[in-house]
Amino acid sequence: MEQRTLGSQGLRVSALGLGCMGMTFAYGGQDDTESRATIERALELGVTFLDTADMYGPHTNEELLGSVLSGLSSQRDEVTLATKFGNEIGADGKGTGRVNGRPDYLRGQIDGSLRRLGTDHVDLYYQHRVDPEVPIEETWGALGELVDAGKVRYLGISEAAPETIRRAHATAPISAVQTEYSLFTRDVEDDGVLATCRELGIGFVPYSPIGRGFLSGTIRSTDDLPEGDWRRNSPRFQGEALQANLRVLDEVNALAERKGVSPTQLALAWVLAQGDDIVPIPGTKRRRYLEENAGAVDVHLSAEELGAIEEVAPVGVASGERYPAAAMGMLRR
Ligand SMILES: NC(=O)c1ccc[n+]([C@@H]2O[C@H](COP(=O)([O-])OP(=O)(O)OC[C@H]3O[C@@H](n4cnc5c(N)ncnc54)[C@H](OP(=O)(O)O)[C@@H]3O)[C@@H](O)[C@H]2O)c1
Repeated sequence: MEQRTLGSQGLRVSALGLGCMGMTFAYGGQDDTESRATIERALELGVTFLDTADMYGPHTNEELLGSVLSGLSSQRDEVTLATKFGNEIGADGKGTGRVNGRPDYLRGQIDGSLRRLGTDHVDLYYQHRVDPEVPIEETWGALGELVDAGKVRYLGISEAAPETIRRAHATAPISAVQTEYSLFTRDVEDDGVLATCRELGIGFVPYSPIGRGFLSGTIRSTDDLPEGDWRRNSPRFQGEALQANLRVLDEVNALAERKGVSPTQLALAWVLAQGDDIVPIPGTKRRRYLEENAGAVDVHLSAEELGAIEEVAPVGVASGERYPAAAMGMLRR
């Protein structure tokens, strides 16, 4: 598997990661046996950059990863473990719906993550959401101390505004910014996030690079989603917005068919083609999808093919916001 560098501090990762969130959180249909097999298969294929967060569950996602990794013969340093803190988890172990960037909070969170993951260090530790009540320098001062203490190797931030990225990076170096990015969600090209990363030498990790599964072509109606699935409440997967998005999707799928690749492979190849500072983390809990997705690293798009995609899926093409209103308010702070 091709390796890529994230940021200027030396973090090397597989060109494609594995998003583990859906294995225990947000997307319906949990199957721990298949999820475990998927993580093991990912490592066999060289997809060694694994993405989780304390909030996924909460805690169950890190626990699943920890238990799989403890049973493997591969060395800890063959895996790049990324986790996140900041979507606040209360003393009862449930999400509070708030964001917490206070130093004493994150010091407790990293210790919990290390325990659940069964390791003495996290390779990449992200601030999941920015807390507007806490100056970013306070949060990042404490994150820098975690690096000095050896609990964390590299630092990242998710869904932050360009000015926040700048201030955090001036406090302790950021190796990766993680934000939603796919050929359906190209806001970062327009709002200064990607440009700021490139100016500062920070790597970029697109989450939901398959548009939360939409770009695979397997979701054509809200009813295709399991009961309790988070996407049932996402504006993009509902009503007229969904119908408009399906019309664009059909055009994208026609381009995939012409190229002789699956729609998901086209979507991932497009993200990978946006620069070698970019490392997408497609999510799946199935070996079958993982193997298909790993094949995307060998799909190369010509300038003409990229131009054809640009025509049918320009910046801003998707209809409907990517989160419900309350969650939209927590982005780009
Ligand atoms: N920083 C943040 O705020 C944030 C937010 C969201 C996600 N993330 C991270 O980013 C990762 C990826 O994002 P995501 O999972 O939201 O979205 P995604 O990667 O765009 O899509 C995942 C969905 O696509 C389906 N899928 C994957 N490969 C497929 C294939 N070859 N054919 C058909 N369907 C396929 C999966 O199905 P199955 O689940 O059935 O396998 C799942 O429903 C997450 O796992 C998480 O680690 C971060």
